[in-house]
Amino acid sequence: YRKAASATGLPTFLLVGPSGGGKTAFTTLTERGTVPTTHPSTTPLSIEALLPDPHVPASSHYRSPGDPAFERSRRFIILDTPGHGKLRNYATSTLADPGNVRGIIFVVDAAAIDEEAGLNEAAEYLHDVLLSLQKRYTNATTSKGPKEIPVLIAANKMDLFTALPASSVKTKLEKAISEVRNNRAKALRDAGAALSGGDEVDEEKEWLGEGGEGSFEFDEMREIGTAVDIVGGNVCQGKNSGDVAGWWSWIGEHL
Ligand code: GTP
Ligand code: MG
Repeated sequence: YRKAASATGLPTFLLVGPSGGGKTAFTTLTERGTVPTTHPSTTPLSIEALLPDPHVPASSHYRSPGDPAFERSRRFIILDTPGHGKLRNYATSTLADPGNVRGIIFVVDAAAIDEEAGLNEAAEYLHDVLLSLQKRYTNATTSKGPKEIPVLIAANKMDLFTALPASSVKTKLEKAISEVRNNRAKALRDAGAALSGGDEVDEEKEWLGEGGEGSFEFDEMREIGTAVDIVGGNVCQGKNSGDVAGWWSWIGEHL
């Protein structure tokens, strides 16, 4: 699947996030314009799509529809990955070697965020995604730093009355990521003390964002070239398609 994606050379948007968030539903809606019945994914899925009207790729703002360059610029790949905790190796390996990845879309069920288990699972996964982008940035050998990779947090299922608004999804995730960050640092210190009688583990490299004990904010990711946006949407509305215009527009801004 990666070969197929890289062979076209098209800009790729990588879909990650916990199981059940709506990644495959969004992928199919973007590819075919219809809402499918989905099952939890066990394999990654790579599809080619066209940015739907009226969204315009940022690179084509001055071109007119019908211009072949305009039409070409609307093409992109979505790489949908399984969200189950035991099947994240597909996402992880792409994050480690992002190739054509132009942006990362972290799809999350905005109703699940209101429950502790759902919030913690999302926060841990998102923490790891951001940490791998940070490592890629700090390990880069060029002085310019690697190409910037933005992240969209797609707060899905806004049609459900239990869904939290995007602004609450943001603050809840920031708070939960602060805890993940503290817990990971403590675990590293404990492991380090047990292993080598106090030898320093490379703690700094494993700490997401800026140093210090304060709480985590997505804005800290700007330092590593990653802008994080949060946009609400819903892939479906009953059996019909819902409203994901904000996500397509975000894709257009990075296309
Ligand atoms: P994994 O493949 O396990 O990682 O999950 P996924 O993120 O691909 O989730 P999937 O697209 O399979 O969607 C999970 C369930 O959520 C399906 O039953 C979808 O129909 C449902 N779903 C997706 N989007 C929405 C939405 O906007 N609103 C509601 N109410 N349900 C949705
Ligand atoms: Mg899926």
